[in-house]
Amino acid sequence: MTRKRKLLMREKLFVREVWDYYNRHGRHCLPWRLTKNPYRIFVSELMLQQTQVERVIPKYKSFLKCFPTLPKLAKASLREVLKEWQGLGYNRRAKAIHDCAKIIIQKHKGKIPRTYEELVDLPGIGKYTAGAVMAFSYNKPVPIIETNIRTVFIHNFFKGRSDISDSEIFQLTGIVLDTENPREWYYALMDYGAHLKQVEGNLNNQSKHYVKQSTFENSDRQIRGAIVRMLIDGERTRKGLQEVLSFDSQRIDEQIERLVADGIVVCPRNVCKLP
Ligand code: ADE
Repeated sequence: MTRKRKLLMREKLFVREVWDYYNRHGRHCLPWRLTKNPYRIFVSELMLQQTQVERVIPKYKSFLKCFPTLPKLAKASLREVLKEWQGLGYNRRAKAIHDCAKIIIQKHKGKIPRTYEELVDLPGIGKYTAGAVMAFSYNKPVPIIETNIRTVFIHNFFKGRSDISDSEIFQLTGIVLDTENPREWYYALMDYGAHLKQVEGNLNNQSKHYVKQSTFENSDRQIRGAIVRMLIDGERTRKGLQEVLSFDSQRIDEQIERLVADGIVVCPRNVCKLP
């Protein structure tokens, strides 16, 4: 992390602006902010990776009702986990969270790891999610960037620039980071970023790392989602899936293969099911 130096006037004003916004308009009651339980925070961060806050809230609550502890999640079948995941999209994350739970039972005595290195080593856990778990569960001042945080820094320090790299942003995040209270500081940055997106639109297209979410309608992702939804209700032959889903048969077959490769579906003797 960048070594802390004295803040410049501009940076001081920035810090004040972020805290002011948060004190007045912060989303203080998001359910995953009312807990420090690392398992619950871990679940929330996986859900929030590619899904909007409003959609995550009810799913987060029902998921934790169904799997209130990490051992309960580890013991569930992938089918049960996928069933609870419906509505969040990107089913690979459901497989990842289930695999993580099993690994954490085997390798970490059932406790969510307390180091960044161990977290980032888990399947489906990237730099952001590992850092977020460190910050939000353990209040550790690790540098993190996600879409809302990136928006705040672009808005305040990189107006009019394009092709901004996260390494440039990381330098600043380290300088202004509240090392006493990183948990709250990151909540504040995220909320301020979400607000800026609403009033200014998405500034992330100025980032070198910006990836536009692809259209869902008629996408391969939509086909995979439809296959998984069918299989939650019970096994189907390949042919049966092709008959019932209104997509091109070849595309359905290709997506079955992708789901098999990802370990989400098994298809012995052309009977497809969830493991
Ligand atoms: N609070 C904690 N993590 C968050 C996230 N990823 N998005 C929005 N609010 C959050």
